[in-house]
Amino acid sequence: MLAHNSVERPQQLCEASVVYFVLFNEAGHFGDPNLADEVVPVTHVQHTGVVDRFVIRQSGPLSGEVHLGGAKNSVLKLMAASLLAEGRFVLHNVPDITDVAIMSRLLEAMGVTVTRSGSRLQIDVPMLVQPEAPYELVEQMRASIVVLGPLLARFGRARVAMPGGDDFGPRPINMHLGALEQLGATFESAHGYIEARAELLHGTEILLEFPSVGATENAMMAAVLAKGQTIIENAAREPEIADLATFLNKMGAQVLGAGSSRIVIEGVEDLVAVEHEVIPDRIEAATFLAALGICGGELTLRGARPDHMHMLIQKLGDMGMRISPDADGLWAAAPRRMRSVDVSTLPYPGLATDYKPFLVALLSVADGVGIVTENIFTGRFRYIDELRRMGADIRTEGHHAVVRGHEALSGAPVKAHDIRAGAALVVAALGADGTTEVAGADHIDRGYEDLAGKLRALGADVERA
Ligand code: EPU
Repeated sequence: MLAHNSVERPQQLCEASVVYFVLFNEAGHFGDPNLADEVVPVTHVQHTGVVDRFVIRQSGPLSGEVHLGGAKNSVLKLMAASLLAEGRFVLHNVPDITDVAIMSRLLEAMGVTVTRSGSRLQIDVPMLVQPEAPYELVEQMRASIVVLGPLLARFGRARVAMPGGDDFGPRPINMHLGALEQLGATFESAHGYIEARAELLHGTEILLEFPSVGATENAMMAAVLAKGQTIIENAAREPEIADLATFLNKMGAQVLGAGSSRIVIEGVEDLVAVEHEVIPDRIEAATFLAALGICGGELTLRGARPDHMHMLIQKLGDMGMRISPDADGLWAAAPRRMRSVDVSTLPYPGLATDYKPFLVALLSVADGVGIVTENIFTGRFRYIDELRRMGADIRTEGHHAVVRGHEALSGAPVKAHDIRAGAALVVAALGADGTTEVAGADHIDRGYEDLAGKLRALGADVERA
């Protein structure tokens, strides 16, 4: 968002924070219920000196099919929404990614039991939970803030660590707090925590100054148990918001209009635990489409929802990719070299900011010059320095980047700083001669289940080292 009022920064934390690692079992999966202590202080972890990274060699053309996992940005919110009712929830199509592991830890810290079997996640929510989100977990994943709405709605109080900024620059939560305040909550901030209370949440009209995904979700999850009617105007319209509404409605909520910019919610007394299948990850889909655009060839994305990706499909079509829906997903074919276009990010149904790193990678090897404008997170250009190390010809000016395409990039050691930028470096490396090593693989693991394996299945030369 280009202009917003920054929320007051949290008080500086005085105590040194403990850093945690999420450990994985032998199969690389988290959540084995037999492993009682998978999150341990870093001081208990033996340092091996091994840097987890991706090693990529120039590849192409791609061919084959890949199955998409469930949407990270949906499942995290559905897990938070489970706090709204006692009982056993079952989520299907849950990707095995670190952010789901962190959200599981967060729920478990409150007294919830989370177990995984394949892509099925079972969440057992007791009658009473400890409504607190500790700093050690919030610090690892900003999306933790979405527990605030459901905790307030069900328990009338919550203590949630203030999330800090991140690689995208400042990440204020003023709209989350403003919406919840309008519903009747009060907040105090002390020692890096938000102490929230609500005697009774009541329906109200909320006008968001920007269609924030997280603020819309927090407001929805609080309003479902508020007394009376809530209307959220200028709501975010992302498919993940509609998925959350479907989930809440299955639980017994009355949410109308999700997916449009006006959401109307009639508060109900109680909600119940349910079973639900998470929508596919449109950003993971974009990752494979960008790989295709760089390498050429054709592929099928099983489980993809083209109706969630209209603008991306249109943009890739303008660049020369052919995409058509198929019985269970979509089919796409790319020429040897794509054409450059201009790109501008906007809230859904506009072109998602999460697609941008992939489009920049694609433009780096496309034919022509493309101007990229970031309108959601102004600081989301940091990975461009890494692409430049690979020979990409990119000039940035404020929230614009001018990308001049070259036939090929040049393999180099680079570093992932966040989930999507990291995956974009892996994809860009497919079009770079020689070998590229992308360090910081843990960032990529936060949002991707076996990215290297899935790319290899399409014929790309990618491995984990
Ligand atoms: N904003 C405010 N105040 C607020 C909330 C947001 O000023 O209280 C501003 C933000 O600073 C930003 C804009 O509003 O400039 C949009 O932020 P939004 O709240 O929509 O983003 P978010 O909910 O924090 C989610 C996704 C992001 C994705 C954005 C935008 C999750 C967990 N995260 O973040 O996904 O980029 O929406 O679509 O759902 C990712 O998957 O890697 C990722 C970062």
